[in-house]
Amino acid sequence: MELVKPDIKYKDSFIEALREGFYLGSQSPKSVEEIAEIEKDFEAFLRNKLLKPYDPTPRLRDDGKYYPNAPQITYWLIDNGRFIGAFNLRTKLNDFLMYVGGNVGYGITPKYRRMGYATKGLALLISKARELEMDKLLLAAKEKNIGSWKAIEKNNGVLENIITLPWDNSGQKYKRYWIKL
Ligand SMILES: CC(C)(COP(=O)(O)OP(=O)(O)OC[C@H]1O[C@@H](n2cnc3c(N)ncnc32)[C@H](O)[C@@H]1OP(=O)(O)O)[C@@H](O)C(=O)NCCC(=O)NCCS
Repeated sequence: MELVKPDIKYKDSFIEALREGFYLGSQSPKSVEEIAEIEKDFEAFLRNKLLKPYDPTPRLRDDGKYYPNAPQITYWLIDNGRFIGAFNLRTKLNDFLMYVGGNVGYGITPKYRRMGYATKGLALLISKARELEMDKLLLAAKEKNIGSWKAIEKNNGVLENIITLPWDNSGQKYKRYWIKL
């Protein structure tokens, strides 16, 4: 099992994962049309979406304010040559991400869930963050997303607090953890 940069050689299993409903935590599954677009020019998708150079242009966040975009590296979790899931490592935090988004976003393809992949992938991501000389990671998970916060706790995440978001009327709770590197 390894964490690698997105690569065209994993196209088939990545597209299959999208069809099965793979998505990253902060996103939602891609539509049939979006998947067809990605498949049509996969190299352009990699180049323009996943491997694009850092663009600091401020981005609108869920609280309705603009924040400088955070630098982010995407890694794919590969096992036996197949795409299993993805991890985004944000190497710097803006005020919004410090509040809730954190340094890491991840998702595992539905058919591979509950097999320990998020836990193992997060352990590999922690090694990458150490190599980049980061000293701690903030991770946030919805309280109802048990798999997400359990994977964080299994990687020695220390709970800082549980918050609700002023702009989110559903009142759902988020658990904020730090992992010391
Ligand atoms: C959250 C997610 C990444 C978990 O991935 P996973 O590979 O299934 O997680 P793991 O197999 O490492 O499971 C970690 C622990 O959580 C438990 N768990 C996983 N999913 C669970 C669920 N739906 N309900 C209850 N427990 C769950 C596992 O059993 C394991 O605990 P255990 O070792 O005590 O049995 C995956 O469900 C997913 O991709 N969800 C959609 C995207 C998302 O929510 N991303 C996270 C937010 S950024």
